[in-house]
Amino acid sequence: MGIHATTSLALRPQTRALAIRPLTPVIGAEILDVDLSRGVDDALFAAIEETFLTWQVIFFRDQKLSTEQHRDLALRFGTPAYSKKLKMYDGYEDVSLLENDGSKKAIGALWHADNTDYERPPLGSLLYAEIVPSVGGDTMWASMYAAYDGLSEAMKSYLSGLKAMHDNSLVRKLYAADGTLRNEGVVVDKAVMHPVIRTHPVTGRKLIFVNSGYTQSIVGVPEVESRSILQGLFEHLGRPEFQCRFRWEAGSLAIWDNRCTQHYALDDYSELRRMRRVQIDGDAPF
Ligand code: SIN
Repeated sequence: MGIHATTSLALRPQTRALAIRPLTPVIGAEILDVDLSRGVDDALFAAIEETFLTWQVIFFRDQKLSTEQHRDLALRFGTPAYSKKLKMYDGYEDVSLLENDGSKKAIGALWHADNTDYERPPLGSLLYAEIVPSVGGDTMWASMYAAYDGLSEAMKSYLSGLKAMHDNSLVRKLYAADGTLRNEGVVVDKAVMHPVIRTHPVTGRKLIFVNSGYTQSIVGVPEVESRSILQGLFEHLGRPEFQCRFRWEAGSLAIWDNRCTQHYALDDYSELRRMRRVQIDGDAPF
C-alpha cells in the first residue's frame, strides 16, 4: 500500500516559506526556523496553518512562550475552548494544566481524539511543555487520513454511511477515581452520534473518525457486528505506518488537528511532566 501526505493545498498568496522537517511520510513535521515569542504576522500564520493542515501535527522546539503568547497563537486558529475535564492553568478558564509525576495514570494514555463525546469536538490543541522527564513521556499521533486511505475500497464503501455513538464513560472510569478530572468532568454526558467516516471541513479529505477513548458502538447494526467493526478499526488505526512519535523537551510546542488525528500520551515516566494546553473549539463532523 502506498502512503502519501497530501501536498495539494493551494498556496495562499502571502504565505512565507518555512524550513520544515517531516517526521514521517504521512504525519508530523517540525518547523525549524521560527521564534514564536517574536509574534506571528499574517504571512507567518498562513504558512504555519498550511503546514498544520498538510502534516496534521506540527512541532516547534526551544520556544519561550508565556501563557498569553500561547493563548494569542491559539486565537489565530479559532476560539479557545473551556475544558470541563482538565484542571485550569493558573486561573485561566481556557488554558489547561496537565501535570503528572508518574504516580497516577497519565492523561491521554490510550489512542483517542480529544472530546469526541461533544457534539462539536475540538478543532485542535496547542500543547506546550514546561517541564519534562529526562526520558519518557513522549506523545504519539496517528493520521486518520492515512488510515482511511489504507482501507480496501469495499470497506470504505461499507463504512461510508455508518454512524457511531461516542460518550465519556471510559474516560471517567480511567481518570475520575484518582482526582485527575475536575468535578464537571466526571459527570456522565449524553452520548453523541458522529459519522464513522468524516470529511475534513478545510482539506475535503476523508478520514476515519472512531477512537478507542470515546467511541462505544456503531449505530443500527447488531452488537456483535458493532464490536467487531470497532475492534478491527482500532487494530487498523494502530499500524505504526500511520503514526509519528515526538520526544518532548522543555519549550517544545505541538499543535495538532484533532479532526484528522488521534494521539496517545505514553505512560512510562516517573519524573515531573508539566504541560500547558489550549484547545480550540471545533465544528460538528459531517
Ligand atoms: C492529551 O491531550 O491527550 C495529552 C497529550 C500529552 O500529554 O502528551
